[in-house]
Amino acid sequence: MNVSIIGAGTMGNGIAHVFAQHGHDVTLVDLDQDRLDAAFATIDKNLGRQVAKELLTATEQEETLGRITLGTSISDGVREAALVIEAATENPEVKAQIFKSIDEDAPEAAILATNTSSISITQIAGGTSRPDHVIGMHFFNPVPVMKLVEIVRGLETSDETFAKIRDLSEGLGKTPVEVNDFPGFVSNRVLMPMINEAITCVMEGVAEPQAIDDVMCLGMAHPMGPLTLADFIGLDVCLAIMEVLHRELGDSKYRPSPLLRKMVAAGRLGRKAGRGFYDYTG
Ligand code: NAI
Repeated sequence: MNVSIIGAGTMGNGIAHVFAQHGHDVTLVDLDQDRLDAAFATIDKNLGRQVAKELLTATEQEETLGRITLGTSISDGVREAALVIEAATENPEVKAQIFKSIDEDAPEAAILATNTSSISITQIAGGTSRPDHVIGMHFFNPVPVMKLVEIVRGLETSDETFAKIRDLSEGLGKTPVEVNDFPGFVSNRVLMPMINEAITCVMEGVAEPQAIDDVMCLGMAHPMGPLTLADFIGLDVCLAIMEVLHRELGDSKYRPSPLLRKMVAAGRLGRKAGRGFYDYTG
């Protein structure tokens, strides 16, 4: 299948990797040639890791890379696509603009998917001429490793579109889970309030960050504690998602923790900033 992926950042390169590895022809599009080159290098490096672990042969690595084309024009990149997956910056205006161009230039029968973590699928679909062909295909980081694809049905998503994306996800070796379009879907609706509560526990002095993570890892068998995970995701991203839940659902239980706001204001964004609930400068 011809698959076009818009956005070659963290998620876009992982999605391109998985589709190409499973025999699909991938066109990866980004505004920025440097991001495309970096994405290609990352895919090469990650495939190399799979070869080292004997999960893949060196020939398969080369064949996978050979199925990936890079480009900086959305119009050219989607012309032959049967499926377009948008994985660009999490910004409603950016996504609306991208969907407008995809809708104009992709074949009429193409399915248009988005990897958004929090923007309404129904709203994105409403800006296109084919809302029945629009769906959420929410992958998890790192994409080549994580099994879940949360498949999000917008109000107008057709059963046929859903079935195609479900079957395609299974063909990628993933486990699709069907959810409906509500703020945060299931993943962030459940995860983020837990992280937010862990942050409030730090704020109130219930326990030290490491103690909170130990309780959740050892007592609840979580592979990673909520504060370690928050640092990994980025505290600015966590705050943005809590704000979406709070605004869209209007319930005070989704109020972002004041400590979360304070950490973001101070630039303590987690791993990427060298400091969050833990120190990564060492
Ligand atoms: P990122 O910031 O690493 O990459 C975004 C890329 O989009 C950049 O390379 C940027 O140049 C490109 N871009 C921006 N505007 C564009 C346009 N008009 N046309 C083409 N490319 C454009 O972001 P990341 O983390 O990969 O996130 C992408 C999407 O995936 C977001 O919607 C995010 O919410 C979602 N997501 C992120 C996860 C994560 O763990 N990072 C997990 C699941 C979903």
